Amino acid sequence: MLINNSKEKVLEQSIKWWNPGKTRQWQEDGIDFVMGKREGYYLHDMNGKELMDLHLNGGTYNLGHRNPEIIATLKEAMEEFDIGNHHFPSIARAQLAEELAKCTPSSVKYSIFSSGGSEAVDAALKSARYATKRKKIISIRNGYHGHTGLAVSIGNERYARPFLSVGDPSEFVQVPFNDLEAMEKALAPGDAACVVVETVPATYGFPMPEEGYLKAVKKLCEKHGTLYIADEVQTGLMRTGKMWGIEHYGVEPDILVTAKGLGGGIYPIGAAVVSEQAGGWMNEDGSAHISTFGGAELGCIVAMKVLEISQRSEVVENVAFIADYLRQGLERIQEQYSEFFIGIRQLGVVMGLEFNHPEGAKHVMRSLYKNGVWAIYSMLDTRVLQFKPGLLCDRAYCDELLNRFEVSMKEAVLSAKQKI
Ligand SMILES: Cc1ncc(COP(=O)(O)O)c(C=O)c1O
Repeated sequence: MLINNSKEKVLEQSIKWWNPGKTRQWQEDGIDFVMGKREGYYLHDMNGKELMDLHLNGGTYNLGHRNPEIIATLKEAMEEFDIGNHHFPSIARAQLAEELAKCTPSSVKYSIFSSGGSEAVDAALKSARYATKRKKIISIRNGYHGHTGLAVSIGNERYARPFLSVGDPSEFVQVPFNDLEAMEKALAPGDAACVVVETVPATYGFPMPEEGYLKAVKKLCEKHGTLYIADEVQTGLMRTGKMWGIEHYGVEPDILVTAKGLGGGIYPIGAAVVSEQAGGWMNEDGSAHISTFGGAELGCIVAMKVLEISQRSEVVENVAFIADYLRQGLERIQEQYSEFFIGIRQLGVVMGLEFNHPEGAKHVMRSLYKNGVWAIYSMLDTRVLQFKPGLLCDRAYCDELLNRFEVSMKEAVLSAKQKI
């Protein structure tokens, strides 16, 4: 049973038993938050402080916290299902796989299920290696694809170095984003299994792909027999205004990875959806990759509901509305603080706000927190604030958000000036 502890006690317990460094770091950053009640796009601290959730855990709460339709779906599923047994075909897994194939680009087909994004990335990389019989993996510098074996080695060193997991450069090559020449050089030897790209790199602050860049990368991949993996963990599920971010760029990937919001914030699930070629191993040795919780049946049922809600026409229209409405509001505020607030990176409700100070987004995060908004700086570019509203926000929510943002901006400018 959960003990009804005070917030002070939970913080003490967290330092003693959970993660002392992480707990202290947030306290030093002025964020002494312990999650209490959560509903829709609002979070509450254990002591009652209300926050508008503009982080959504990277899109995990794309459809809001504790979405009633998702909860009802899970409750109903629990009358009949459990996690299931990963060895057997199952009604829920087979149906979700078919539905994922139908809503992803026509280049991808089979679903390899996981319990999160990192594992799905690992499964994608393993599939590419099997299909090409090549080991080398090319990824984007300052990317983040997860915490597991291969996924951590293809991301930024910040997450690999502490665990002696920086990839051997003969196997793991990283090139700068939007640098086609560097990509061409890396692909030229013709020995790379795959190129992995976050369609809009999240942890790096959502820099937008330059015109034609992703399409040109895909073309180079085809020329060199290399597979293209689209990491859509943060850009999928309608967040960009289309079901998958990659659809904006005319790229048909060989593998598409999805997770986070796929579980509706209620039941963890992820998937690598792979082409016939990339999924070749499943015809030859289908039991080569196994995962006890990957594709848990309860998660599959939740994910089907997520796919259905996310593709409703009124939801698609709402995303376009919020994206446009917030852009206009943010631009108005930007005009007042144009020296500090220097850029709005945006694709749908995927947004990065850029500030003219090396730690600008940290200052803005603190003021926003004080004024009741939770948005976090980009871990790999602290000038940029990740600003990520959900698909189902309404106009009143956006108005309140813009009010709180405007007040916070005034304070952040002052606080950043004092720290220059
Ligand atoms: C783009 C991207 N890919 C993969 C992952 C890994 O997902 P997970 O944390 O569910 O393992 C993340 C997590 O933040 C991510 O942002």
